[in-house]
Amino acid sequence: MKKFLAHTVCVAALGASLAISATVGAMAKDFRLGTIVPAGHFWSKYATAMGEAIKEQSGGAHTVTVFPSGQLGDESQMVQQLQSGALDMAFLTIADVSNRIPAFGALYAPFLVDNVGDGAKLLKGETAQKLLEELPGKMGVLGMGYGIAAMRQMLSTTPIETSADLAGKKMRITPFKPFRDLYNIIGIAPTPMPLPDVYDALANGQVDAIDVDLELIMNFRFDQRAKHLLLTNHAMFPMVGLVSGRVWAELSEEDRKLVGDNMAKALDDLLAEYGRLEPELVSQVKATGIEVKEVGPEFFPGVVEKWEETWKDQKPLIDRLRAEAAAM
Ligand code: BEZ
Repeated sequence: MKKFLAHTVCVAALGASLAISATVGAMAKDFRLGTIVPAGHFWSKYATAMGEAIKEQSGGAHTVTVFPSGQLGDESQMVQQLQSGALDMAFLTIADVSNRIPAFGALYAPFLVDNVGDGAKLLKGETAQKLLEELPGKMGVLGMGYGIAAMRQMLSTTPIETSADLAGKKMRITPFKPFRDLYNIIGIAPTPMPLPDVYDALANGQVDAIDVDLELIMNFRFDQRAKHLLLTNHAMFPMVGLVSGRVWAELSEEDRKLVGDNMAKALDDLLAEYGRLEPELVSQVKATGIEVKEVGPEFFPGVVEKWEETWKDQKPLIDRLRAEAAAM
């Protein structure tokens, strides 16, 4: 009931930009859900599980087709499709969202949490949850909750002994400002690149290093192309489960509850899954035989302070998030 009320609040906020007409009675629908990650990734698996639950609970009336690997376009294009109603749902990183609503960039503050379990708790906390309320009014989409990916690391084709060894390298980043700022401060040339292009870019020397997580290293076998891992845990990587505001406006109350509750559950399950998965991923990556060097914020002197100076407009938000993280 609590989750359903949260969705109702979101719909109220959407009223400013969309005329809402809740349809009485359900119409059968095949919801289309887009995501940038491949089919074998946990986000895709939980999206599929959500679809199965929706199908079962609607007696087969509603289904969800998952389009992985950026088949429907990059995240920016998927957001546009959500806004127009051409796409029903998406599991997206917060990257494109934070380009549109900078407050979300605070969630990428360097060294905000130590591990994915704490990241999951922070995303369930008051400050992160409140950010979701901005989505309907500012982007025309509803956020049903957060998921997460594994913590961010740096994988390099050459050994990195000190942060000075990173200077001048071309580092692949997810295309968004918080990481661009981070690497500019460290003194690395950030090369924005969506996930599906990364393997070839490593193979053809377009980049020397990548900002990445352990699951992706194993999924895409990036370890075959770059053999020096800095296990930094330098940022968490939230995901958000979105529903198109236009599509939502046409759903019956009953279908909103079905979709909202099932997406919220899939995202909660995903948060818990990554907490369990993290130690296993470290073991898997170590077993590939690549060099693994564990470092913390002290490896990047002054970087956190300079990043926060760059992000001073979001300082109150960052301070609240750091306070919630410190209290865990
Ligand atoms: C990335 O761009 O590195 C990324 C995209 C989706 C999920 C996890 C990571």
